[in-house]
Amino acid sequence: MRAVDIIMKKRDGHELSREELAFIVNGYVSSEIPEYQISSWLMAVFFRGMSFRETADLTDLMLRSGSVMNLSGLAGPFVDKHSTGGVGDKVSLVLAPIAAACGIKVPMMSGRALGHTGGTLDKLESIPGYTTRLDEASFREFIGRDGFAMTGQTDAIVPADKKLYSLRDVTGTVESVPLITASILSKKVAEGADALVFDVKSGPGAFMKTEEDAERLATSLVRTGQAMGKRIVGVITDMTEPLGDKVGNFLEVEESIDCLKGGGPADMMEVTYRLTSWMLVAGGVAKDIAQAETMCREAVSSGKAYELFLRNVRNQGGDAEKMQALYGNWRSRYSRELKAPRTGYVASIDAYKIGLAGVYLGVGRDRTTDPVQPDVGFIFKARKGAKVGEGDLVATVYGKDDASLDAAWPLISGSLTVSDNKPVTSPLIIKEITAL
Ligand code: URA
Repeated sequence: MRAVDIIMKKRDGHELSREELAFIVNGYVSSEIPEYQISSWLMAVFFRGMSFRETADLTDLMLRSGSVMNLSGLAGPFVDKHSTGGVGDKVSLVLAPIAAACGIKVPMMSGRALGHTGGTLDKLESIPGYTTRLDEASFREFIGRDGFAMTGQTDAIVPADKKLYSLRDVTGTVESVPLITASILSKKVAEGADALVFDVKSGPGAFMKTEEDAERLATSLVRTGQAMGKRIVGVITDMTEPLGDKVGNFLEVEESIDCLKGGGPADMMEVTYRLTSWMLVAGGVAKDIAQAETMCREAVSSGKAYELFLRNVRNQGGDAEKMQALYGNWRSRYSRELKAPRTGYVASIDAYKIGLAGVYLGVGRDRTTDPVQPDVGFIFKARKGAKVGEGDLVATVYGKDDASLDAAWPLISGSLTVSDNKPVTSPLIIKEITAL
């Protein structure tokens, strides 16, 4: 077999066999095929696409490039959720303890903030002492005893994706639905879950900017995951506005605590209950979405979900008492107020601009190696649809220093639109695609 023949076959729009895909993936991981040929193949895939069969084979071959989490000996059902990333998206912190309280085992492997989107690991690590670097024995122990554990990906999980993703990043081939599908799904299947729920965000603050693109990705994730023998649900949710009232790292831990104590913002709870309910259905502990939602609400109102969250904080080295003492108090001393420029209704707060501004403030980062700050971000006092008078407070913004606030301010003030008429509310849950 020759790489050039496989490149030309894909260039001309033909379907590649599993053997040909294996030749490419294994040849790249072992460095036998040079990067210029893999780059060319990636571009051919970008323009010609892949069938679901090819995508499933690519996913499986990538998965096999590394090790898989061993959950054998533990009682399931094992179900995880993955979000394609957004602004203010702290759903994982709330969903995992709720799902665990309802009898689901959640082996959660999360990512870090990058670009305008936040990262679950950075939010969790803002809790004093909390570590997201768990060895396999601890990961298994916490899932077995308390129903969930939150960790980062190890180097042993899907090494093919690490190499391919870095190359896609510099060759203009990131935005390809089959390549994104194989990248995300290979890592999620490596966690050992039986079923997966995908939150595919759609809108300016999301990776997929239009509903059509979000639906193409959701369909691809569901059909490919199904071909790999998993029960899958894809939920397309709106990411035009930031999710919740707080955006930051510790600020989002605070809001997660509110949600778990039953006082979370309506949009956060709507998305969280829906995704968690699908986890319960996919895991077979609820017969339908209505029963599942009742169970999720009961897990919150009974205090069980919050209790499991505190247990997880302690399991993973966090100081739960200090976290609770810092609640409401841990704020950078560099702050500024965003005020309504005129009387009217908040028509929109652009999630993308808020996410980008967050990179300057220290919420997020441009490069994976950059540090983030725990005590910076946004507290919104007025959200879409709120009536405001000229000069009313819309948000308090915390930055790592004055220079960061100066740099972020054009984005922050440009994110806010005030109009004369009350804006129409658009649904948060746009579409659901199931393969159960
Ligand atoms: N996130 C991933 O993990 N992989 C992609 O290809 C895109 C987003």
